Amino acid sequence: MIDFKCNLGKFVDTSEYDAKLAEARNYVARAQQDAFGGWVNLPIRYDREEFARIKQAAARIQADSKYLVCIGIGGSYLGHRAVIEALGGERGKTKILYAGNSLSARALGAVLAEIGEDDFSVNVISKSGTTTEPAVAFRVLKQKLIAKYGEEGAVKRIYATTDAVKGALHDEAQAKGYECFVVPDNIGGRYSVLTAVGLLAIAAAGFDIDALMDGAEEERAAVISDGGKAAEYAALRNVLLAQDYNIEIMANFEPQFAQFNEWWKQLFGESEGKDGRGIYPASVVNSTDLHSMGQYIQEGRRNLFETFVEIAADYAALQVPQSHDDLDGLSYLEGKELDYINKTANAATREAHLAGGVPVLEIVMPELSERAMGGLIYFFEMSCALSAYALGVNPFDQPGVEAYKRRMFELLGKPGYEQV
Ligand code: PA5
Repeated sequence: MIDFKCNLGKFVDTSEYDAKLAEARNYVARAQQDAFGGWVNLPIRYDREEFARIKQAAARIQADSKYLVCIGIGGSYLGHRAVIEALGGERGKTKILYAGNSLSARALGAVLAEIGEDDFSVNVISKSGTTTEPAVAFRVLKQKLIAKYGEEGAVKRIYATTDAVKGALHDEAQAKGYECFVVPDNIGGRYSVLTAVGLLAIAAAGFDIDALMDGAEEERAAVISDGGKAAEYAALRNVLLAQDYNIEIMANFEPQFAQFNEWWKQLFGESEGKDGRGIYPASVVNSTDLHSMGQYIQEGRRNLFETFVEIAADYAALQVPQSHDDLDGLSYLEGKELDYINKTANAATREAHLAGGVPVLEIVMPELSERAMGGLIYFFEMSCALSAYALGVNPFDQPGVEAYKRRMFELLGKPGYEQV
């Protein structure tokens, strides 16, 4: 289970916190009833038939593809990339590549170059089925599939995850006969990693998606009655915001969590940043970024707070070696695990930043495993929904994302978007 800790006596007024916590706890029921609250009970109510098909498709991909190209943007790719990379990268022989998350010809060209003449399959993910970035990348990769395997062969290597009944991708998948998975109507993109949106890539990368769902279920059970620790985190964020702490920095000490930070930023940024409100989500990976952003965090403008994501279990893998001399001055660390030194750096950073006027929150996962990742994802989804309700915004829409699209379509001359 996910633990949440903080020691904010000097920053937080207890009665304000108690009131916010009571409010956040009440929003659990609201999230369950929301038309976009399908993620709340997903860990106990997912489609078992589809889940089995996802595992079969993943096994097929592992058997016939050196690469699986996951095409999608925003909520359609950040979650599974976060899980795969946080768990240390692909476990099987199929490597996951990502496309359609930008319009960069260089980025797509690099994916095509990496595939070269090797065997590959495509996992195209778009709830709307009409998003430009993945649609363009899909066209390009489909052409490569057809050139290599022919029309029929290509169809067998395309997996489409999209709306159950509508949209361009849905219609094409039906017409061509691609294997299809569904983005449920009641789950928005950034809450969808535990649906087929995330599960196919995670399974194809060789991870145990049963354990991932079990971890999410364990966390659901822990927070479903009154929000548990997720409500505490949500309440505290809002109390800090009321005192103008309007930037939250997610900090961790594992470089392989860099993409998890990106998933978290989308989840909170897109859920809360609207109606002129919100906490700006930023991130650092330490100790690397202590040598670039550390100065600002320690002594810059005092409007930020930090949330550390930590792994409780020790990772015994590498020790500081013995040396016959002490020219580098490291003898005092001889025989110590690197993980111990990393955890000590983490503790020191928290203490220093707190002393420097930065409220510090801690979210602790018991270990680094599929099960713990499932719990962590669920914890943040629940906290995000409760926090956004407490902020007074809709956690599940993203009206602002449309503005750039409209202008881009005008400039590109898309029919129906002629410039005025
Ligand atoms: O979280 C969201 O809803 C968005 O980030 C979407 O996932 C993203 O815009 C991609 O949309 P779609 O899946 O419809 O292509």
